[in-house]
Amino acid sequence: MSDETLSPQDIAKRAAGVAAIDRYVTSGMKLGLGSGSTSHWMVRTLGEQVRAGLDVVGVPTSTDTAEVARQAGVPLADLDELGELDLTLDGADEIDRQLRMIKGGGACLLWEKIVATASRRMVALVDDKKLVDRLGAFPLPVEVVRFGWRATQRQIERLLAAHGLERAEITIRGGPTTPLLTDSGNIILDCRLGAIADPDGLTVGLNTIPGVVENGLFCGIADAALIGYPDGTARELGSA
Ligand code: 5RP
Repeated sequence: MSDETLSPQDIAKRAAGVAAIDRYVTSGMKLGLGSGSTSHWMVRTLGEQVRAGLDVVGVPTSTDTAEVARQAGVPLADLDELGELDLTLDGADEIDRQLRMIKGGGACLLWEKIVATASRRMVALVDDKKLVDRLGAFPLPVEVVRFGWRATQRQIERLLAAHGLERAEITIRGGPTTPLLTDSGNIILDCRLGAIADPDGLTVGLNTIPGVVENGLFCGIADAALIGYPDGTARELGSA
């Protein structure tokens, strides 16, 4: 894709996705392959390197990424065939300076968290607009089972109120009649929170609610972030 057809944010995403391969990937690695447009730049670049002789195997974090990887010629395997992965490279919707993230804008948060936590290292690939002082402007996705989802939503509202987030607005992604279903067949509740004072406490609390499968807060998971800029450069935050 030529630069004329890309927005400055897309150029920044491409910068992070492309630079990640050169910076972190070596032959023989077992890789977690993230989801979303930034990750797909990374997967396509990985495919070019595989065609040039790089020997890696990837575990996709969504059916979409599996398709992109197949088209790019990246060998894929099942997570349970590979055991622990060397590295996961994945995007994020927001990231703070402690490398805590909101993920799940593409509804892939469950597989993304399973794959990231099955990896020795995780590096977030983001454009510069994703770096925030405080998480929460991006609606927090919470994956819940369809059975009794309104009861689960009420429990989430109670927990949010206990975290000082009583004005949170929760919507079911896709709407109640045609809800979006995740790759695991669950639904997503998007929680508009504004600002999250205690992401570490909130992620633990959410995951204790029956009906909640996983939430989009990723705390203590990323080792570093590679931040892309509209001038085509990428810089590391943290250390992988
Ligand atoms: C999908 C994700 C993505 O990594 C996140 O939404 C970022 O996507 P993009 O790179 O397109 O901005 O968490 O569930």
